[in-house]
Amino acid sequence: MKQGFLAIILAAGQGTRFKSEKIKVIHSILGKPMLQLVVDCIQKLKPERIHVVVGYQKDEVMKQIASPKISFVYQQKQLGTAHAVLAAKNVLQKEKEKDVLVINGDMPLITTSTLKPLLSFHRREGNSLTLLSAELENPKGFGRLIRSENKIVRIVEEQEATPSQRKIKEVNAGVYISRVKDFFQALSKVSKRNRKGEYYLPDIVEIFTQQKKKISVYKTSRLEEIGGVNSRLELTTAVDILRKRKIQQLIERGITFYDPKTTWVDLDAEIGRDTIIYSSVIIEGKSKIGNDCQLYPFVHLINSRVGNRVKIFGSSMIEESVIEDESRVGPFAHLRPKTVIKSGSKVGNFVELKKTVFGPRSKATHLSYLGDCEVEEDVNIGAGTIVCNYDGRKKHKTHIEAGAFIGSGTELVAPLRIGKKAYIGAGSTITKNVSPESLAVERSKQIEKPGWAKRIKKK
Ligand code: UD1
Ligand code: CA
Repeated sequence: MKQGFLAIILAAGQGTRFKSEKIKVIHSILGKPMLQLVVDCIQKLKPERIHVVVGYQKDEVMKQIASPKISFVYQQKQLGTAHAVLAAKNVLQKEKEKDVLVINGDMPLITTSTLKPLLSFHRREGNSLTLLSAELENPKGFGRLIRSENKIVRIVEEQEATPSQRKIKEVNAGVYISRVKDFFQALSKVSKRNRKGEYYLPDIVEIFTQQKKKISVYKTSRLEEIGGVNSRLELTTAVDILRKRKIQQLIERGITFYDPKTTWVDLDAEIGRDTIIYSSVIIEGKSKIGNDCQLYPFVHLINSRVGNRVKIFGSSMIEESVIEDESRVGPFAHLRPKTVIKSGSKVGNFVELKKTVFGPRSKATHLSYLGDCEVEEDVNIGAGTIVCNYDGRKKHKTHIEAGAFIGSGTELVAPLRIGKKAYIGAGSTITKNVSPESLAVERSKQIEKPGWAKRIKKK
């Protein structure tokens, strides 16, 4: 494509059929607002500029998809899709000779595999207006293409269509390309004389027909891509399609999924080669997993980074944390935000870590809580060790130096520092710093009453 073009994305409508307090286009699909998916796709076509038409809940929309590459225009009242495009009239004033691509903001399944050929088709045919259409088994809800002698003459919306027009299976996808000048000239002629009293963008087809300008239709066979998301049901369909696409991509890059049907990977997540994902794993947000890892069933990762050759056993929850190379985590581990598990370490079952750096080759294998800690290398945390980091008002830090051994059932009352290679006797409640290489025990003396059990029985 030699000449540059502009893009307009329509995202001002509330989306009443979606039944939400929140504007439809920011509802998320695999971790991204659905409008973002349309923006990303258009971005790949490298337009000179993207203008997003916002209106209903505009501040939220702008906040969610803000980027230096897009600008926003404001449609004050949502009077229909044609009216929405007109909101961009002023900003396109100086670009009259350029082409403009207009697309609905509720088509998150669209890809460049459809839009690239559509753009070249428009250029090649020298059209005044090019539309994207598809032949659907169930065309319900879409505008229908009315052809005369095989040529498109207008589009009739579902609400306006006669019963016989409703039987037409060729639908308007909601993507239009034209020259700015021609487009806005036609738009100014669109009226709101219809059932909904709205300015319908597809009405420009009839206007171009009357003006005897050349209109062509690019009919795609990539049916799933034109699905608009109008209802919650259509949202679940879109989520499912995108989920499958994402997993397909990863499979092609050398990742094994034992049960892709039950696996969820957000669009921004990355996974390295030879990693194996077992069933029912959820990987959310901008998570990044390295090579040759294993994620066992029911592992749930949120915005976390995992190195290479890491194993995360079943039912572990990892939030905003880092797990470095060759570590083992879980089963039933909970890494809360800002935890870093250094390489070669082990975090076992029913262990919870929060805001803790857990040193290389250190171990906490059973039933422990470590919060606001810095644990150096080769430390052993015995079963049932609890860090008391909160005094009811403030959080305090615990620092455990290299090679220290914390006996089972210990309570470490922060703030606290345990010296290098120090030992803590099991069952101690430690409230004072322990110097390197010493043993600290805090335990009341054991008493023993011989024959006590027998005596109590006799009573
Ligand atoms: C629209 C088309 C229909 C097509 C279908 C494809 C119209 C009148 N009809 O119908 O022919 O088959 O898309 O999915 O265009 N919007 C605004 N401002 C408004 C109204 C809507 O910005 O005043 C935005 C919405 O946020 C949405 C897009 O335009 O992203 C499409 O609007 P929607 O109401 O979903 O149109 P459909 O009824 O799906
Ligand atoms: Ca729609």
